[in-house]
Amino acid sequence: MEASTSPELTTFAEDVLRGLSSTPKQLSSKYFYDDEGSRLFQEIMKLPEYYLTRAEFKLFSEQKDAICSAFTEDAEGLDVIELGAGDGTKTAILIEHLLAEGVDFTYSPIDISQEANEILSARFREKFPALKIAPHTGDYFKVLGSLKNGSSKRRKVLMFLGSNIGNFLQQKALDFFRQLRAVMNREDRLFIGFDMQKDPRVIVAAYDDAQGVTAAFNLNLLERINRELGGDFDLSKFSHYAQYRPLECAARSFLISREKQTVHIAGLNRSFDFEQWEAIFMEISQKYTRSMIEELAADSGFEIETEFFDEENFYTNSLWQPSQNHLR
Ligand code: AVI
Repeated sequence: MEASTSPELTTFAEDVLRGLSSTPKQLSSKYFYDDEGSRLFQEIMKLPEYYLTRAEFKLFSEQKDAICSAFTEDAEGLDVIELGAGDGTKTAILIEHLLAEGVDFTYSPIDISQEANEILSARFREKFPALKIAPHTGDYFKVLGSLKNGSSKRRKVLMFLGSNIGNFLQQKALDFFRQLRAVMNREDRLFIGFDMQKDPRVIVAAYDDAQGVTAAFNLNLLERINRELGGDFDLSKFSHYAQYRPLECAARSFLISREKQTVHIAGLNRSFDFEQWEAIFMEISQKYTRSMIEELAADSGFEIETEFFDEENFYTNSLWQPSQNHLR
């Protein structure tokens, strides 16, 4: 890479090099979200097959009173902190309710993208003029470390919604929750959106929609590599394939090389050989059973305080509190 490239581009280049040099080949789904990828994800959330967003939206709409009561119970003031807020459509339901109930609270979206934070904050300031909003740009843990409030009785509720945890491999999910636990006080809470195990056909359809938007979402990462790293991927020579493995509760997406080919990436000064039908592992979307959620909470130093389910048990929002006897 040229000396003038940004640290983000260097990390992207290193990750692509490592991923395409490994066996099996893989690319990280965290790189899906350039401008076009974010636009495609907005489209995915409206697809008939993609039930996740609608399930969480409906759950919030129907159970906002119980959710907000659980947030505020025994708390002397509330700081709602959202990790990766996206467009805030679902969060707005809870904010509107907390404001209507006269709760003393602040709202802090944390995002690595300054632009995402600015768009969301502008929208919320317009929609909710009375809202105390304090956006933070940066790495979740650095920001959270700086927000640690000693012995104050104010409660922080950290929200990680939209089944975003599903895109972490199991060990990474555990490490992530342990790191969050380390910056939380006993009275704080963690509120997480999990997608539940269900009919495998429903899950496969959500990741292999009829209009091909999810395929375009995956292929867009090859386009991004072409644009940002000088690759020569021919997108027509790759196809998207999604599977669900019920024993692991894991949906996975792949891009399959339709023929034997060599791809050159100028920015990496490297070529990569693909066999016909060779797969690049693109994304995991982990689904959960109740016992998996219980185990994850216990292993990362939390107890489940309350669980909210939608009518079909498709989705859950789980409220966790740090466990008393955890040594950290
Ligand atoms: C952001 N994340 C929770 C989505 C999911 O369901 O895993 C990303 C996605 N991938 C394909 N469709 C949606």
